[in-house]
Amino acid sequence: MAKTATKKTARKATEAPATTVLSVENIETYYGPIQAVKGLSIEVKEGALVTLLGANGAGKSSTLKTISGILEPDKGRVLLKGQDITGFRPDRVAAQGIAHVPEGREVFPFLSVRENLLMGAYLRSNKDAVERDIEAVYDYFPILRERADQRAVLLSGGQQQMLAIGRALLSSPSIMLLDEPSLGLSPLLVQEIFAIITRLNRERGVTMLLVEQNASVALEHADYGYVLELGRIVMDGPCTELVKSKDVQEFYLGMGESSAETAESGREDKRWKRKKTWR
Ligand SMILES: Nc1ncnc2c1ncn2[C@@H]1O[C@H](COP(=O)(O)OP(=O)(O)OP(=O)(O)O)[C@@H](O)[C@H]1O
Ligand SMILES: [Mg+2]
Repeated sequence: MAKTATKKTARKATEAPATTVLSVENIETYYGPIQAVKGLSIEVKEGALVTLLGANGAGKSSTLKTISGILEPDKGRVLLKGQDITGFRPDRVAAQGIAHVPEGREVFPFLSVRENLLMGAYLRSNKDAVERDIEAVYDYFPILRERADQRAVLLSGGQQQMLAIGRALLSSPSIMLLDEPSLGLSPLLVQEIFAIITRLNRERGVTMLLVEQNASVALEHADYGYVLELGRIVMDGPCTELVKSKDVQEFYLGMGESSAETAESGREDKRWKRKKTWR
C-alpha cells in the first residue's frame, strides 16, 4: 500500500502538466443573420485527441472554421498556446501551426500525390526534414507511396482523405483540426483511417481536434469529448464517461429505450424534451 502511494506521488512530482495548445473562449459566429455558434468554449491539451460530436447542423464545421480563420467570430477568442489569434486570416492561422483538414477533403485534384504533400510543407525551409516527413506519411499510408506520381483526382474517396491528412501533417502543425474524416467511407475504411489517426496521435504526439457525426467511432478513439447541439456545448467529459451517459447512448449511439419511439415521434422533438436533463 505504502509503496504504491510513494510511487504515485513520485510520478506526480515528475510529470509536467500538459500545456494547453488550443483554447476557444465563448465564441459566437454568424452567417449573416444566422447564428451558427452560440457561446462555445473548448480546450485541447498538448498530445490529446479531443472530439467534438454533434448532429447535422449542430455547428461543428462552423466551430472549426472559426478556429482556422475562415469565419470570424462576433464574440469570444481563439488562443493558440496562449497567443490570441482571433480574426487572423486562414493563411496566418496555418502559419501559426493550425492545420485544418476540411469536410470533403479538398485535395488539389490535378496535382500529384507528392505535389499535394509538398503543398502542405510550403512554409518549411528544411527540405531534409520535409522529405523525412513525406516518408513518414508514406509509412502510415503506404497506398500514397504507391500512387505518389498519380494525380489526386484518380484516388478513391478514402485515399483522398488519407492524402488530406498527410498534407496537413506535412505542415508539422501544433494541432490538427479534422472535419468528419469518416464521411462517405465504408465501415472498414473508417476503422482503418481511425486506427491511423490514433497512431499518429499516440506515436507522433500529434494533437488533434476531431469533429464527427459518427459518435461511436469518435468516442472509441478519442480521449475527451464535447457534445454540441444547436451551437452550444451540452455535455463534455472523458470519452470513457461519455459512452456511459444515457443521453449520449440514446441520441448519438442509437441505443436505449426508445429507438422506435424516436423514429416515430421525430428525433428533434425528443432531443428538446430531454435536453433539459443534459449533464
Ligand atoms: N454558408 C452558410 N450560410 C448560412 N448558414 C450556414 C452556412 N453554413 C452553415 N450554416 C448554418 O449554420 C449551422 C451550423 O452548420 P455547420 O455546417 O457548422 O454544422 P455541422 O455541425 O458541421 O453539420 P454537418 O454534420 O451537417 O456537417 C446550420 O444551421 C447551418 O445551416
Ligand atoms: Mg460539418
